[in-house]
Amino acid sequence: MKDMSSSTDDAPEPAAAASPSAAASPATAARLAWPTRPESTEDIPAVRRINLAAFDTAEEADLVDALRRDRSAWLPGLSYVADAPDGTPAAHALLTRCHVDDVPAVALAPCTVLPAHQKSGAGSAVIRALLDAARAAGERTAIVLGHPPYYPRFGFAPAASRFGILPPQPWPDEAFLALSLDGSIPPRGTVRYAAPFGID
Ligand SMILES: CC(C)(COP(=O)(O)OP(=O)(O)OC[C@H]1O[C@@H](n2cnc3c(N)ncnc32)[C@H](O)[C@@H]1OP(=O)(O)O)[C@@H](O)C(=O)NCCC(=O)NCCS
Repeated sequence: MKDMSSSTDDAPEPAAAASPSAAASPATAARLAWPTRPESTEDIPAVRRINLAAFDTAEEADLVDALRRDRSAWLPGLSYVADAPDGTPAAHALLTRCHVDDVPAVALAPCTVLPAHQKSGAGSAVIRALLDAARAAGERTAIVLGHPPYYPRFGFAPAASRFGILPPQPWPDEAFLALSLDGSIPPRGTVRYAAPFGID
C-alpha cells in the first residue's frame, strides 16, 4: 500500500452532511450528482479498471482482487461504487476487516476515481456512502492511511495522537487517521491489516 501522506493540498473545511431536504450547497450538489451503491459481481471488472487507471501500477487493483478472495478480510456490502451519468462505475471505495489489537475495525483502502472524474465529488460521494453502510452494518471504528488534507472531511482524525490507535509501521501521525463510526471511544492498540496488504 502506498504512503499517501505527501500531498500538500490545502486542508478543506468539512463538508456538510447532505440530506434530501438540505439546501443545495455545492458540496451537497456534487454528492447528489453521484449515485452510489454496493458493488455487484458485474462491477468487478470495472472496479479493476478504475484502480488500474488511477494508479501507476497494478498494485491496488491486485490488492482489491486479493482482498475479495480473502474471506477473513472481505466484508460483503462494504465495497462501493459511484456511477457516472452513463451508468458505469467511475469511483470505488473499499472497507476490509482489520483489528486494533484484537478488536475488529475496518480499514478504508483503496479509494479510487477514474482520472477523468477526479475532483468532481465522486470520491467524496462513494466514501460517505460506504461509511454510512459500515455504520448500518454495526461497524464501530474505521482507519485510513491517506492524503492528510482529504480524509478529515469525513470525520477522520489522527489515529495515534487523538485515539491511541497506533499504525503497524511508523507512518506520519497526520496521514494515519481514525474515525469512530458510532460515536463511542475507539479501542486503543496497534492496527493489524488483513494479510493481502502485506503490512507487518
Ligand atoms: C483521492 C481521490 C479518491 C479523491 O476523490 P475525488 O473524487 O477526486 O475528490 P472529491 O471530488 O471527492 O473531493 C475533491 C476535494 O478533494 C481534494 N483532493 C482530491 N485529491 C486529493 C489528493 N490527492 N490529496 C489531497 N486532496 C485531494 C481536492 O483538492 C478537493 O478539495 P476541495 O473540496 O477543498 O476543493 C481521487 O482523486 C483519486 O482516485 N486519486 C488517485 C488515487 C488515490 O490517490 N487514492 C487515494 C489513496 S488510496
